[in-house]
Amino acid sequence: MARNLTVFECTACGYQSPKWLGRCPECGAWSTLEQSSPDKPRSAPGTAARPIPFPEIPKTGVSRTSTGIPELDRVLGGGLVPGAAILLGGEPGIGKSTILLQAASLLASGDHSVLYVTGEESATQLRLRGDRLSVKEKSLLVLEETEVDRITAAAKDNSPALLIIDSIQAVSCSDVASVPGSVAQVRESATRLVRLAKSTNLPVILVGHVTKEGGLAGPRALEHVVDTVVQFEGDRHHAHRILRTLKNRFGPSDEIGVFRMTSQGLLEVPNPSEVFLAERPENVPGSAVHAAIEGTRPILVEIQALVGEPMQGNPRRTALGIDSQRLALILAVLQRRAGLTLSDRDVFVNVAGGLSLTEPASDLAVAAAVASSFHRKPIPQDWALIGELGLAGELRSVSRLDARIKEAERLGFNQTLTPNRAKHLTDALDALFR
Ligand code: TYD
Ligand code: MG
Repeated sequence: MARNLTVFECTACGYQSPKWLGRCPECGAWSTLEQSSPDKPRSAPGTAARPIPFPEIPKTGVSRTSTGIPELDRVLGGGLVPGAAILLGGEPGIGKSTILLQAASLLASGDHSVLYVTGEESATQLRLRGDRLSVKEKSLLVLEETEVDRITAAAKDNSPALLIIDSIQAVSCSDVASVPGSVAQVRESATRLVRLAKSTNLPVILVGHVTKEGGLAGPRALEHVVDTVVQFEGDRHHAHRILRTLKNRFGPSDEIGVFRMTSQGLLEVPNPSEVFLAERPENVPGSAVHAAIEGTRPILVEIQALVGEPMQGNPRRTALGIDSQRLALILAVLQRRAGLTLSDRDVFVNVAGGLSLTEPASDLAVAAAVASSFHRKPIPQDWALIGELGLAGELRSVSRLDARIKEAERLGFNQTLTPNRAKHLTDALDALFR
């Protein structure tokens, strides 16, 4: 049977359909479906590809160039790798352009040249920001341009040590029909820039805006095109800016870098634990300290809980900084295994400072914060809590316990409540509130 090789693709969102449609069922746009030919085979059919014996694969030690900002190097896995394609995401106004201009200036003050392509702001606007940051390097080259082939040609002419595209949503290809900012444009532009990175060993950083919902505006496919995805977490209303590695072919993911926005741009926070605990209230019920592992390092955070009477109707559960399913599980275990009647109460949980915790190791601290608010008894000031909670109420062991305890002790938390010390949630709660 002959295969149907015709595909119609929406030029706005990338939706594909085997037949033409007047309106895209995915994004609702009208008359955006266009016929696209499927990928042509890369080499003539019938010629076999040739594998190579393992020892003959050339060895390449990855050499890394520091951006001049250690916390940025950390999230990149130790610095810039030749030919790496990096996507930097975050909400508008969070500091993407700021951190890149700072890194560009630091690199250019060494013996590297940097090409900064500004497609969203004018060069004069960039100059204004740069003056605030005391940028004055001659080898920082600024290009006001949005056409991707003109950008790649300029990069080839100037052979910089780093190419920055601010932003990928502003860039387009003149030979692609759809409007700038559309999925088709963003994907094709990114693909060409990544190809440039790979063929010339030039590291490229693409700035990508992220919507409130957390998705990259543009195709998620962009994340697959690049080697590394780093993203500013949360919104710009927090004093601290957390940069997290979501994907990294050259290093660990989940690494975080912590910064503070100041009038001189983003400053590094060398001791994140101190910052996350700085505003912790003393002897107040509902506050627990947890030693988390973020990427490769331990970080102490404060988990806050508030248990209240519902204002009206059904009780509400709100989780900020932890998964809401996880909170539901913890509340169920507290009710069934430790006898706390929470089913008719409002429960709010928040991780102070805007950090998002993903490990179950924070379960015990969340449970203890909720129990503390429920009983209106504070958790003793110098205790840190670490442990995963099982459905039977048992405490389960977690990774890198020693590193967590060491960080807790470094900051004066001399009592650590861990699965080694308490086997069950009820033992833990007894130890805290007896
Ligand atoms: P910006 O880097 O423009 O954000 P993005 O590129 O992610 O959209 O950051 C803009 C915000 O940062 C803006 O609200 C002004 C503030 N800011 C400072 O507070 N100090 C500074 O030195 C700079 C350059 C910006
Ligand atoms: Mg910007």
